[in-house]
Amino acid sequence: MLLLPSYYEFHNPVRIISGKKALDNLPSELESLGAKRPLVITDKGVSNAGLIKFIIDAFKESEMTIAAIFDEVPPDSSIKVVNTLAGIFTANRCDSIVAVGGGSVIDTAKGVNIVVTEKSDDLMKFIGAEMLKKPMKPLIVIPTTSGTGSEVTCVAVISDTDRDVKMAFSSNHLMPKVAVLDPRMTLTLPPHITAATAMDAMTHAVESYIGLQKNPFSDIHAMAAIRMIAENIITVVKDGKNEQARLAMANASCAAGAAFSNSMVGVVHSMGHALGGVCHIPHGVAMSIFLPYGLEYNMHKVGDAIGEILLPLAGSEIYAATPVAERPEKTVAVIRELRDELYNQAKLPRTLKEANVSPDKFEKIAQMAINDGSAIFNPEELEYEDAIGVLKKAYE
Ligand SMILES: NC(=O)c1ccc[n+]([C@@H]2O[C@H](COP(=O)([O-])OP(=O)(O)OC[C@H]3O[C@@H](n4cnc5c(N)ncnc54)[C@H](O)[C@@H]3O)[C@@H](O)[C@H]2O)c1
Ligand SMILES: [Fe+2]
Repeated sequence: MLLLPSYYEFHNPVRIISGKKALDNLPSELESLGAKRPLVITDKGVSNAGLIKFIIDAFKESEMTIAAIFDEVPPDSSIKVVNTLAGIFTANRCDSIVAVGGGSVIDTAKGVNIVVTEKSDDLMKFIGAEMLKKPMKPLIVIPTTSGTGSEVTCVAVISDTDRDVKMAFSSNHLMPKVAVLDPRMTLTLPPHITAATAMDAMTHAVESYIGLQKNPFSDIHAMAAIRMIAENIITVVKDGKNEQARLAMANASCAAGAAFSNSMVGVVHSMGHALGGVCHIPHGVAMSIFLPYGLEYNMHKVGDAIGEILLPLAGSEIYAATPVAERPEKTVAVIRELRDELYNQAKLPRTLKEANVSPDKFEKIAQMAINDGSAIFNPEELEYEDAIGVLKKAYE
């Protein structure tokens, strides 16, 4: 029987529009939010892939003009870039933001929104949870990776490059107003990034489903996401131009985002944020490396939930053929098989060694991981020696 938590909240105020026509509605969506002069934020990878043309085209038929386009967001958002962009927003008298990109761009846009809404000049003044007290400028997000789910989350992860630390800003005010899921926006994503970002989405859904703050609504989103990812991940890695599979992945990562924005993530993210901060390993690669170990680490506490994941992950035949007691282990085995396949198809690293992470960084990573906020809602507490243990296991 499903036991309801004694108390929970589920919040997703983002309007989600999905499909090939979704982008055409961009000007009218902005208009209905009272916006007239959007700042478009993106990065070189996205603009060089020719995707900004779709945005410009969407405005051609409308009265609205784009006030400015900035395409120099670096990989992993940084405080300095956010502050520079806030200056560009103000100088161009912008009143809204359209973020076109992966998590780096989206989180940068959220950071810029904090600074311009608060009429400040430095994002560092707002670090931490619930530091923001008023509604933000309209933000519309068009994700171009199917990974972070940042288009529906209350979180922005931004690097302080001076200290090699990734910082999390969280507030319901950070939620975008609209998320546009258009299959054309991910067709150009190379196989390696497709694989890595998909494993980020998978990790959001899995950690959401096994976390302490799970609830029936986050579960529904997480289970739907796991199924869509499992059914489409290999297709999009092998055949990046498959629009149907791309749209399914965009929906999956968005659903996984809605799940974890409410239930939070766990140790896989703590370890991954630390690995990203210390060794600059892309977020999705870190997720894929740590996911099986994160499940094993929590197995003694939430084995049943891990076993339930087998159904959306492997399908009803395998689920039915696996005895209940063996389902948790089988879930981990299927995830390992998936990682092997992603290694074969796209050279996605499975181990820290394959990702060229040197063991002499373990102490720093472990120290940072135990101080990362993500582990608060993890079923098993993460202590320094545990983090070192996970790192050693994940090495080769
Ligand atoms: N806010 C959240 O809720 C949340 C959740 C998870 C991760 N994150 C953060 O998101 C960041 C990672 O985001 P990401 O994994 O989406 O990667 P990313 O945004 O860093 O993009 C990776 C690369 O792919 C390129 N790219 C993106 N879309 C493309 C496309 N359609 N075609 C061709 N190239 C394309 C980019 O130019 C970039 O070089 C990290 O900083 C991570 O910490 C945030
Ligand atoms: Fe993530």
